[in-house]
Amino acid sequence: MLNNFDNDKMVDRYHKLMKEILDEKLYRHSLGVAEAAASLAEHYEIDVQKAFFAGIVHDYGKHYSSSELIKKAEELDISLDRFTLQEDRLLHAPIGAALLKKELQVTDSEVLRAVTYHTTGRSGMSSLEKMIYLADYIEKGRDFSGVEKIRELAYVNFDQALLEAVEFAIKAVLERKLLLHPRSVAFRNWLLFMLREHNLG
Ligand SMILES: [Fe+2]
Ligand SMILES: [Fe+2]
Repeated sequence: MLNNFDNDKMVDRYHKLMKEILDEKLYRHSLGVAEAAASLAEHYEIDVQKAFFAGIVHDYGKHYSSSELIKKAEELDISLDRFTLQEDRLLHAPIGAALLKKELQVTDSEVLRAVTYHTTGRSGMSSLEKMIYLADYIEKGRDFSGVEKIRELAYVNFDQALLEAVEFAIKAVLERKLLLHPRSVAFRNWLLFMLREHNLG
């Protein structure tokens, strides 16, 4: 079954499903991400329904424990890099995407990529992938210092806001002495190259 984002009922169905499956806190966060992504999509004129959908399902993997996720990855023969295997916080993104496909018949490859890369980012992300990454940081439930500035910037200079978000994320990883996924470094540098080119042009 192909996901059809023109069909409101399909998006509603997955929204209801997430409300049932996820715990209250995770559901509220997911709804916040869906709403922030939809609002950005509307502003930048990309598919609003698809952005809402990707937001509402992006943390599906989080309702499984880390050991359950590892077990599922083995069953599905998903190969995980050593950074992801070492850092529990990264597991739910790539495995969650595979489980959305296997268990909930989500087929849209861009949505699945947005879920896969929402914790690390990657160089060359599509607009939808970038929107989910940023929405995850600025959804209304987030209250870290500086979030208000990034929220406003998101509607003025999207890539600059994204750069602020990924740098915030990288700093937090360094402060906690965790492994920094190389994709996050590539993502940050890719954004910086783009912004510099844009400023020169
Ligand atoms: Fe997540
Ligand atoms: Fe999230």
